[in-house]
Amino acid sequence: MKKNQYKILVTGVAGFLGSHLSEELSNLGHKIIGIDNMIGGYKDNIPKEIEFHNIDCCDFDKIKNIMKEVDIVYHCAATAHEGLSVFSPFEITKNNYLASVSIFSAAVNEKVKRIIFCSSMARYGSQKYPFIESMDPKPVDPYAISKVAAEQVLINLCELNKIEWVIAVPHNIIGPKQKYDDPFRNVVSIMINRMLQGKAPIIYGDGKQTRCFSYIDDCLSCLIPMLDKKSLNKQIINIGPDEEFVTINKVAELCSNITGINLPPIYKKDRPKEVKHAICSADKARKLLNYKTQVSLKEGIKRTYDYIKKRGVKPFEYHIDLEIDNELTPDTWKNKEI
Ligand SMILES: NC(=O)c1ccc[n+]([C@@H]2O[C@H](COP(=O)([O-])OP(=O)(O)OC[C@H]3O[C@@H](n4cnc5c(N)ncnc54)[C@H](O)[C@@H]3O)[C@@H](O)[C@H]2O)c1
Repeated sequence: MKKNQYKILVTGVAGFLGSHLSEELSNLGHKIIGIDNMIGGYKDNIPKEIEFHNIDCCDFDKIKNIMKEVDIVYHCAATAHEGLSVFSPFEITKNNYLASVSIFSAAVNEKVKRIIFCSSMARYGSQKYPFIESMDPKPVDPYAISKVAAEQVLINLCELNKIEWVIAVPHNIIGPKQKYDDPFRNVVSIMINRMLQGKAPIIYGDGKQTRCFSYIDDCLSCLIPMLDKKSLNKQIINIGPDEEFVTINKVAELCSNITGINLPPIYKKDRPKEVKHAICSADKARKLLNYKTQVSLKEGIKRTYDYIKKRGVKPFEYHIDLEIDNELTPDTWKNKEI
């Protein structure tokens, strides 16, 4: 292997972010080992040129074996289902927290050079926005709690064992290869998949909740330098734009304009624990990563639409069981209405 070419383990490689990231790292000449247990993602997302293992991050003995001679770990695997985590906390905590501890433990044992962990802006909860990295995490649901807990174990183990770490904090990412038949997450993809089937968008609450969306390439431009840039060691960095915050009502309107399907949204009751305004500051990314947004929200939605249209609409697949089924559980999930 040439200098600065690494053997890199990417977890969640059939998923949206993991597949793009491993493709990009492979194009840069690194050797990529990818793992995924296929609870999410798509098989055809996995780049052909990488070494792939269909295993669960919680299968510690197999992970230990795969970790041999790995230089760098990007841990992207998760069930990133924030809303659902209130109703399926066990499955989601297992794939976010336990899976992370397994990966970090094996990586530390192998003395890897650096671990890059994909956390989530959910770590900030409902604090005053825009969220900045120096704020204390205030998670409000099991998904966010599992991400913050994983961050803490990562820092704890890495500090003790002198291993470099970076925590990337993505916002809502959109783009091709994102799962669009998952009824529990990915609002833009769900809306487009429904509209292409002639169905109206579904909105929880009044639709006035605000979000900031990132196009996948703008996220990758932040994740790639995290590989080995010295100054990024021990940094927590929000990744993605902070220029265009939009309401979910506006997202539905943009999706309508792009698909040409203009149906009034169906409003459902608020989803328990949903954060009203989730907006991150990109100041630190601008300073440390020279971050600059390249793809507007409108263009990002257009490219997501092109992908779904080309791949073909799909019925929604309720692939994670509801563990808590009561009066708080959204009807859309209980009755499989999406
Ligand atoms: N996409 C977003 O908007 C967003 C926003 C903030 C944070 N993130 C974080 O970025 C990371 C990637 O998100 P994504 O959107 O690509 O998700 P994704 O669901 O598309 O990909 C995650 C992949 O991890 C795999 N996986 C889950 N549990 C596993 C386990 N126990 N063992 C092995 N594989 C497992 C799934 O099968 C899936 O292919 C996640 O950690 C997520 O929390 C994503």
